Amino acid sequence: MAKTAARGGRSKVAIAGSNRKRPLAQVAANAANPVVAGTPAPELETIFDYVRHAAARLKRARVVFAHGTTDPVAEAAFLVGEAMRLHPDEVEPQAARRVPKAAGKRILDWIEQRIATRKPAAYLANRMYMRGLSFYVDERVIVPRSFIGEILDSHFGGDEVLRLRDPETITRVLDLCTGSGCLAILAARAFPNATVDATDLSAGALAVAARNVHEHGLDGRIQLAQGDLFAAVKNKRYDLIISNPPYVDAKGMAGLPRECLAEPRMAFDGGAEGIDLVRRIIDGAESYLAPAGGLLCEVGRCKPAIEKAYPQADLLWLDTEESEGEVFWIEAVRLKRRDG
Ligand SMILES: C[S@@+](CC[C@H](N)C(=O)[O-])C[C@H]1O[C@@H](n2cnc3c(N)ncnc32)[C@H](O)[C@@H]1O
Repeated sequence: MAKTAARGGRSKVAIAGSNRKRPLAQVAANAANPVVAGTPAPELETIFDYVRHAAARLKRARVVFAHGTTDPVAEAAFLVGEAMRLHPDEVEPQAARRVPKAAGKRILDWIEQRIATRKPAAYLANRMYMRGLSFYVDERVIVPRSFIGEILDSHFGGDEVLRLRDPETITRVLDLCTGSGCLAILAARAFPNATVDATDLSAGALAVAARNVHEHGLDGRIQLAQGDLFAAVKNKRYDLIISNPPYVDAKGMAGLPRECLAEPRMAFDGGAEGIDLVRRIIDGAESYLAPAGGLLCEVGRCKPAIEKAYPQADLLWLDTEESEGEVFWIEAVRLKRRDG
């Protein structure tokens, strides 16, 4: 459940609990064990063996976990699951299953590539999961990890105290900067009566999005369009605009980890302060929102820069399980009274 929200205020493998029920809990302990990490590949037979071996290799190589997994065991379980064609939720319950030779070779190859190239695991497997849904990914799109997916569940449905809108009443959604199309697809599922326009400046990203929209059977409800922010959707009004735009500032761009260098630069670069695109979204949204509509926008660490640029704007900052103050919500009526 989401944490509280304040106005003006990922697939994980469990590593705790009973080891019998959660066999990968033992992996977490062993991954830290230098004896396991330092030895050549032992006899590897089961999913458990491969996760343990891969986690130890990743830990020793000090790879950065910035793409949906947060630790070596979760990342190892993801790659082993993909090689075995298992959803991440199925990996732990099937830990005792034997890994066929071909899948075992793929796992070992991926681990070595992950370490040598530092490419995100999602690009090696061409797959990423968000809110339990599977998305095709390649280097034309950023690896999906937006907090907006969780907010669509927690603040537009479920039993969250703060419900921003009744999901049944949302019929027109715009996803600006759609990338892989992940948020547009999650929105189409969260709002059963909605059609979704999803836009991006990158033709490559839109090709990936088209593949995902098709894989999810949503061709009839999601329309993709290429263009610079709102330029792709002239003369339309929406109940909801969602956006996870580029928002990394110049300092952040200079210090991106090697893992992120494999992702499209234009997915990150938000200008000197990180808010070049966010500003254009805030300034433009009112003209594209229905009177009762609202804007949900992710801004990473740019909250201070935005509050400085729009000191009077009545932004509602929403927290998620893994973020604080990285997404804001503002209704169309309040956008009228913004400044900046
Ligand atoms: C941070 S990624 C978000 C992708 C996706 N929504 C997600 O959450 O995974 C930002 C996206 O904005 C796109 N983009 C960058 N500049 C843009 C612009 N001026 N107009 C439209 N899209 C843009 C990039 O191509 C990239 O796909």
